Amino acid sequence: MTTILVTGGAGFIGSNFIHYVAGHHSDWKIINLDKLTYAGNLENLREIEARPNYRFVHGDIADRSAVAPLMAECDYVVNFAAETHVDRSIHDAGDFIRTDVYGTFVLLETFRASGRPRRFIQISTDEVYGAIETGSARETDPIAPRNPYSASKAGADRLAYSYFVTHGVPVIVTRASNNYGPRQYPEKVIPLFVTNALEDKPLPIYGDGLQVRDWLHVEDHCRALDLVLHEGVLGETYNVGGGYELRNLELTRKVLQILGKPESRLVAHVADRPGHDRRYSLDTTKLRALGWSPSVPFDEGLRATVDWYRDNPGWWQRIKSGSAEYRRFHEQHYGRRS
Ligand code: NAD
Ligand code: TYD
Repeated sequence: MTTILVTGGAGFIGSNFIHYVAGHHSDWKIINLDKLTYAGNLENLREIEARPNYRFVHGDIADRSAVAPLMAECDYVVNFAAETHVDRSIHDAGDFIRTDVYGTFVLLETFRASGRPRRFIQISTDEVYGAIETGSARETDPIAPRNPYSASKAGADRLAYSYFVTHGVPVIVTRASNNYGPRQYPEKVIPLFVTNALEDKPLPIYGDGLQVRDWLHVEDHCRALDLVLHEGVLGETYNVGGGYELRNLELTRKVLQILGKPESRLVAHVADRPGHDRRYSLDTTKLRALGWSPSVPFDEGLRATVDWYRDNPGWWQRIKSGSAEYRRFHEQHYGRRS
């Protein structure tokens, strides 16, 4: 039986990936190693947890004693576990370095020592290229991360590659653009703005709102990872971009339009994010050559995502009003911006 170790599987993309694997490879055994930080939520896996071939392990990727026994039993490793919010990395980068860089090191070392798994997919990000003023970043372009989150991810990205070159560990790196879809923690722009609009609260746009992000539906991301897991060339890096570039202000208008909420009352320009990358854009020729292309049209995907938050108020209300940690960050971060 094929066994896949998914780290960070209680988070947004990790949980969607576990749902995807359970649906497409029902004979695989899935091990989910997650520390359950503020962003980890076992509610994301309710439909999965009773399956006999699914196991949740509460643990830290930076803890060798938690990781080593799991390496000895898996065939594939997909490392999603990370601290992921740029704004939090600006307030305090310590956990980003500990998890994103050191945690990845522990995974690579224990993988190397066990010699068992066949593939290690390191989930990286388009943010490692830094701001792309014109054109689109290719995998061979130099990386130039500009905030503590992207710098930590770049460290892990190149560390994983170094284990391929130096130690022959079968690593593949993927760099995805901004994901959206169900179960995304409501600190990221789409779930934050959708849920604020549902609550008739202001949508805080950083600076002029003309920054551009390249949106990728999480389902398309999961399909790309499945393909790379099977067909990707070891030692290579693959960009995974939705190819749908949108300014934040236009995104905000779309969200408000779907919900039928007034722009004049809810749009609030607030102080910009320091070091805010103006634009991300990925060239995905390399992944498309393997046979992938994004299949979810953005307007459809956004509408379905808005519907998911509208239909699952308990999920996000438990975080937004129920979590002291969420309220503390929100107050600290937005309190001083407006
Ligand atoms: P998320 O913040 O929703 O989830 C992260 C998960 O990792 C949580 O379940 C958390 O509990 C877990 N985790 C954190 N530290 C851990 C540790 N030390 N040990 C074990 N588990 C730990 O993140 P996400 O948005 O799902 O992102 C997943 C991955 O994809 C990350 O590596 C991120 O850098 C990358 N990525 C995300 C996006 C995006 O748009 N969200 C885009 C490109 C790449
Ligand atoms: P975010 O979801 O944090 O993802 P990333 O920083 O990884 O791209 O932000 C997406 C864009 O939305 C980014 O340009 C910052 C902007 N943004 C706002 O304007 N206001 C907000 O409250 C947030 C969270 C983000």
